[in-house]
Amino acid sequence: MTDVKIFLENDAQTVEIGQKLAQRIRPPLTLYLTGELGAGKTTLSRGLIQSLGHKGAVKSPTYTLVEPYELPGVEVYHFDLYRLADPEELEFMGIRDYFSDTSLCIVEWPDRGQGLLPEADLHLHLAYSGAGRELNIHAGSEAGRAVIEQLAE
Ligand SMILES: Nc1ncnc2c1ncn2[C@@H]1O[C@H](COP(=O)(O)OP(=O)(O)OP(=O)(O)O)[C@@H](O)[C@H]1O
Ligand SMILES: [Mg+2]
Repeated sequence: MTDVKIFLENDAQTVEIGQKLAQRIRPPLTLYLTGELGAGKTTLSRGLIQSLGHKGAVKSPTYTLVEPYELPGVEVYHFDLYRLADPEELEFMGIRDYFSDTSLCIVEWPDRGQGLLPEADLHLHLAYSGAGRELNIHAGSEAGRAVIEQLAE
């Protein structure tokens, strides 16, 4: 199984799917989050990051490009590349070092960094659908497929 489609009626369900993913994700893993402005990418990231043990708020790291979280058993790096002016900025920040064996990298707007980011193990796409959102999950690797299979159980 490499693709799953899920309807998320409200933002609580978006948070919940992030929590479910948190139970199944093991580093190293690269997760892309795509979809229009306001589609729910940060909401899903919040469910995931808080479920992994972060107690505080999770806001979009829009101006800093990346927000690190040192959590029990996993380093999480939450990227938001929306305001990336020049992909070269990623080289300057040492982008490759973030994608290590012990990290989970969550990337909003990965298309802005095209060519400079590793491929996604999991690609989550959110789209407006009535008052809710439709989530499409695509696995790009064996590790990603394992997460999807467990999600369907
Ligand atoms: N399934 C859902 N149904 C309805 N509203 C939702 C759903 N999921 C999230 N939202 C709402 O959508 C709004 C925008 O969410 P969020 O900030 O997560 O979007 P985003 O994709 O990160 O946007 P940006 O591209 O600006 O970073 C929030 O008000 C959130 O509560
Ligand atoms: Mg966001």
